[in-house]
Amino acid sequence: MFFQVSIFRAGVKINSKICLWRIWVMSLFALFVFTWAGAVFANEALWSRGLHFQTEGEVIPLAEDGIHDPTNQAVVEVLQEPVESMADFPRDEKGIIDWVKVLDQGLIEPRESLYGDKEMYPVDFDIIFTNTGSMPHVRFPHLAHTEWLSCSNCHPAIFLPQKGGNPVTMAQIIEGKYCGVCHGKVAFPPTMNCGRCHSVPRKSPGLR
Ligand code: HEC
Ligand code: HEC
Ligand code: HEC
Repeated sequence: MFFQVSIFRAGVKINSKICLWRIWVMSLFALFVFTWAGAVFANEALWSRGLHFQTEGEVIPLAEDGIHDPTNQAVVEVLQEPVESMADFPRDEKGIIDWVKVLDQGLIEPRESLYGDKEMYPVDFDIIFTNTGSMPHVRFPHLAHTEWLSCSNCHPAIFLPQKGGNPVTMAQIIEGKYCGVCHGKVAFPPTMNCGRCHSVPRKSPGLR
């Protein structure tokens, strides 16, 4: 700061003096805005940021995750911390817990229904979405989903069960529609690890 001022005194042109001052004021303002935004985000409950301890490998105690009631004694004294129970769960290349592998390896065994009196009916066929611009095509695997979701979780409310019958776009997914009903909330987020969905190489290189 002092250094700058002494340059002005040394007779730099008026024009550049004004410019320098503008830059100073603007950068101070930007600094203020960033610090303020940072503070706001830091205070918000974790899940409302679209983050969960599992999405970035963050170590967040239950009492601070914005989901559990920190005034409930059980949260502090009885429940096992996820960072401990899920320490050895396999993760994908972005460090997010890969729940499909967790299920395959038998590390968890979800109940099919409340009383355990129903069974899952997995189906094994893929849908390939090809309207992906210059990105690789998207493979939607029914198997990985129907091992723990029933058909009615998706059909017909989220997706009409017809290939090409739903105008899915990336923007809508990020806004929480279509795949985004789950991805970004309970499944790996659409903003990371594009390749887990966009996994089918294109035949043509696409426009770039
Ligand atoms: C949860 C799965 C999923 C993830 C993760 C994902 N996408 Fe997509 N993406 C889709 C689907 C589904 C479509 C729609 C394809 C269609 O309609 O044929 C799509 C479409 C697109 C398109 C085409 C244009 C558009 O707006 O629809 C682009 C570009 C794209 N994605 C980029 C990305 C990038 C970049 C990432 C990572 C930051 C990403 N996607 C992550 C599922 C995903
Ligand atoms: C996680 C969501 C999800 C679940 C659960 C799900 N599906 Fe689908 N299904 C889709 C998507 C996405 C499509 C493709 C829609 C598109 O192309 O626009 C699809 C397409 C279909 C189609 C159309 C195929 C074609 O070639 O036209 C049928 C049939 C279908 N699903 C049956 C089922 C059945 C049966 C179940 C349960 C065993 C089931 N789905 C569970 C998401 C799901
Ligand atoms: C009803 C909820 C739901 C919807 C809707 C949904 N998914 Fe998923 N999806 C899941 C869950 C749960 C997992 C496993 C969680 C994880 O690994 O993070 C998963 C896992 C996946 C995987 C990983 C499969 C593997 O073998 O590793 C892909 C790819 C995927 N979803 C693509 C999609 C695409 C593309 C769409 C939209 C066309 C979609 N999903 C819509 C719930 C959903």
